[in-house]
Amino acid sequence: MIRAKILGLGSYVPDRVVTNDELRFLNPKHERQTEPQMDTSDEWIRKRTGIQERRYVPAGETWRTSDLGKLAAERALEDAGLEAKDIDCIIFGTLSPDIHFPGSAVFMQEKLGINSHYCACYDIRQQCSGFVYGLEMADAFIKAGKYKRVLLVGAEIHSHSLDYTTRGRDVTVLFGDGAGAVVMGPVETTDPREGVLYTRGHADGSGAWGLYLKIFDIGVHGMVDYDPKDREVNSTLYPQMKGKAVFMNAVKQMVAASKEALAATGLSWDDIDWFVPHQANLRINETVVQYGKIPPEKALNTIMFYGNTTAATVPLTIDHYRQEGKVKKGDLVLSTVFGAGFTWGSAVFRV
Ligand code: COA
Repeated sequence: MIRAKILGLGSYVPDRVVTNDELRFLNPKHERQTEPQMDTSDEWIRKRTGIQERRYVPAGETWRTSDLGKLAAERALEDAGLEAKDIDCIIFGTLSPDIHFPGSAVFMQEKLGINSHYCACYDIRQQCSGFVYGLEMADAFIKAGKYKRVLLVGAEIHSHSLDYTTRGRDVTVLFGDGAGAVVMGPVETTDPREGVLYTRGHADGSGAWGLYLKIFDIGVHGMVDYDPKDREVNSTLYPQMKGKAVFMNAVKQMVAASKEALAATGLSWDDIDWFVPHQANLRINETVVQYGKIPPEKALNTIMFYGNTTAATVPLTIDHYRQEGKVKKGDLVLSTVFGAGFTWGSAVFRV
């Protein structure tokens, strides 16, 4: 039987550390000012979200999301012992694409030097659920014999599109820049616990206005000339969120999706080495662990160090703890994600 397997994993975060204190002093181009620009505090952010710091690309330099994706992809390829030219399919998950179109996958393909016309490029738009949705696609492609070497990347540059005034503080404090990647391929096995064991995506479009970023509204007009001080224009340019509704839905669906994954695979928490939830808020993950009756010592969190890197959080978290020596190759992970849409899902796989 052909199953899909993770052959290599890698991540990349920019060197620039932005602490909660520093965040208060940033202007719209995230350059440090002498006076605070946002009314928030380290204490509030730590208590409500668990976040201590996040990474941003340097202010004043031109970084695009495909650049972060490329750096994570190169590490995943090295980990897999493969070269970029071996890849025949790219799936790129992001909510902060390089430009409106074409998608970021083709920009990254070019940067990786993949000249083959036989590498398909997909961009997917499932925000914080991007990794599990992408894993589901890669798994299906590989099992069907469609592609042999799939590069799945989650990458985000949030720092360029956040509102650094008090008006945007509920959202801005949450997000960071970063990328994670896995290389996947087929394995011939009779072992049902090999490779990717399970994936399931869910969505509920009635939650679409619970968390969104417009930039433009095709039904009205594209945004070209704008004044971010204008309240209406501001609400188009920056992410808008109903924080409490997102929080409650995230907890409910992440608990349900984790239980669903165990029921579908016939596994218990004794069989799973690590629970890797999406990193949106430490309080969300602690509540999911509590209500989901998940052994707390198996739950891995990195939101303290990176904030919410959206489509990148799952591979970034696995790689973080792999580099620390905690997660070992072949360990079994149950991952559950939740994001704008609302979209959510879970997956069980060996790393
Ligand atoms: N610093 C200081 N005060 C802040 C703040 C900040 N960064 N953000 C909001 N506040 C204020 C609010 O203005 C409000 O003040 P008020 O009572 O005077 O009106 C107060 O804090 C409480 O706000 P509230 O929204 O009730 O806080 P909360 O406990 O719900 O926490 C979030 C806010 C955003 C941290 C929380 O709702 C959350 O994490 N939601 C889920 C977000 C998420 O996961 N998004 C990504 C999904 S993939």
